[in-house]
Amino acid sequence: MCGIVGYLGPRDPKDVLIGGLKSLEYRGYDSAGIAILHRGEFKRIRAEGKLLNLENKVKNEEFDGHLGIGHTRWATHGPPSERNAHPHCVGGVSLVHNGIIENYSELREELGRGGAVFSSDTDSELVAHLLASETKSGRPLFEAVLAVLPRLRGAYSILAVSQEEPNVMVAFKNGPPLVVGKGHHEVVIASDVQALLPYTKDVVYLHDHEVLVVKGEEFKLTAPDGKPLPIKTVHINWSPEQAEKCGYPHFMLKEIFEQPRAVAAAMAPHIDLALKAVKLQRVGFGASSVEDLATLKADQDWAATQRVLSETERVFIVACGTSFYAGMIGEYLLERLAGVPVEVDIASEFRYRHPVLPPKSLLIVISQSGETADTLAALRMAKGSGTKVLSICNVKSSSIDREADGHLYMNAGVEIGVASTKALVATIALLNILALAMGQERRQLKAAEVKDFLEALQAAPSQMETVLAYNQWFSEAAATLKKHKGFLYMGRGVSFPVAMEGALKLKELAYMHAEGYAAGEMKHGPLALIDDRMAVVMLAPQDDLQEKTISNLEEVKARGGKIIAVGTGEDPKLRRLSEHYVALPEAPWTVNPLLEVIPVQLLAYHVASSLGHDVDQPRNLAKSVTVE
Ligand code: M6R
Repeated sequence: MCGIVGYLGPRDPKDVLIGGLKSLEYRGYDSAGIAILHRGEFKRIRAEGKLLNLENKVKNEEFDGHLGIGHTRWATHGPPSERNAHPHCVGGVSLVHNGIIENYSELREELGRGGAVFSSDTDSELVAHLLASETKSGRPLFEAVLAVLPRLRGAYSILAVSQEEPNVMVAFKNGPPLVVGKGHHEVVIASDVQALLPYTKDVVYLHDHEVLVVKGEEFKLTAPDGKPLPIKTVHINWSPEQAEKCGYPHFMLKEIFEQPRAVAAAMAPHIDLALKAVKLQRVGFGASSVEDLATLKADQDWAATQRVLSETERVFIVACGTSFYAGMIGEYLLERLAGVPVEVDIASEFRYRHPVLPPKSLLIVISQSGETADTLAALRMAKGSGTKVLSICNVKSSSIDREADGHLYMNAGVEIGVASTKALVATIALLNILALAMGQERRQLKAAEVKDFLEALQAAPSQMETVLAYNQWFSEAAATLKKHKGFLYMGRGVSFPVAMEGALKLKELAYMHAEGYAAGEMKHGPLALIDDRMAVVMLAPQDDLQEKTISNLEEVKARGGKIIAVGTGEDPKLRRLSEHYVALPEAPWTVNPLLEVIPVQLLAYHVASSLGHDVDQPRNLAKSVTVE
């Protein structure tokens, strides 16, 4: 979490840094700050809270230098306040930091004993102190960074500048992402490629344990011992306009409406239209790096993927948050369509529970950002024990994408809203495709069955468009819905993870009590919560479990619960039982989650906006969780 940006070049650094921080604000919005060279010294301006507060503070400020760094913070050590905002400036050195310095207390004590005076409660400031004590004897900043690195423990990335070297920036990555690119006589560094897109589309992602040294218009990478490392440039196809709201009041609503396109883009590369069969494209099992994917021979690569799909005896799916719920849907799809046993785990549990990974296991990691610390750690653990890893990511060349053996891409485009939406539906589409591919290769599905499932999946984007028409209804109903004391979301089968997702969305956006339950569990406890102030969102599309779900609904109705039912087409039973009824188009069970998720997203979005909450940046959260 936290966003870092650095600029060295002919433009006004203030504009570049503020522009960069705008695109990084999703990473944290507890405070923001910049430090820019002015008359030979760093002039620092910081503000608590959203970036807007900093923008107001800096708008009339002028700087004569061409070097600057900026930061947007998600607080770890020390509360959100101006005092704890970055950059931290000590003895001519300015520093921004993302991550956690684990040996913070012992270093702080040691520095304190040596007379250091701290002006914040952060772990970051002590790195600035360590660097300043190295540079005060005239040591160049690059050497100072190399000297300090061995003293720091944890997962952290830093960017440092010194007033003694107005032509230099030095950064180091060990965990949280950093990317660098050259524009026109200029270099920009940031935590996310979006901040670089206005200046260049050719970027270099730093790997862990790489030091970046920028001198004027040039940069190089070294190992922590100073030895030079090769540079691999990646071309980005995204345009900066994709990061605009395009007339929507929030990114989240825009992203909800982009979902049909996201589903189509995720599955398109993997469907053999002529054969009406699945053929996964350039997954890359066996390729030496993600950069080589584009040049792989498609048929050879597909043959390697087919081997993995047919030889795998057990699948583990690991992810966090919304990506975990996508994984739960994957479990139903893979077990039923491909006949392979699947275990799904929350990454922070999986990594510490000493899981038994038998030979011929495949670990699937799901992550929109590709940077989630726990998911990355789970990947590394599994790889360390010889398990093959397939990643499903949205951000290409992210840490998880780079370290996995095989790669599937969501192709959802930039997702800015902290609440994940289009990444989820893109993942569900990919998991459908993967389950069909596995079912096909393991002879669990006949060609005609694959064809039918594929046709239904291809129809999903236009069906999703029709469900989006409920936007207006939810925007009007929000005023009533927000008065409930809480929400229970329930469903069976693939609708159960969607229920969990619905509850998560309401919690994270509306800050209301919400729980997701398997409908069959209702009588084992949650039924006690039901009264006329409790709303129950029942996901009951037509499938082989619908009758059972309807019985659960009768039980809720008998106890006075206020029911919002989501079903298929005109369903008189559901209409009779519910206060509000949302009719989805007819689809097989494999496609239903893509349709059901839209009403639960719209409900959370409109209830949260009608409560006046910042939907794109909910309190206490950040888009990318790069610390555990
Ligand atoms: O980038 P990832 O998919 O790994 O992120 C996982 C979760 O942090 C994320 O889905 C989170 O739960 C969202 N805020 C949910 O809307």
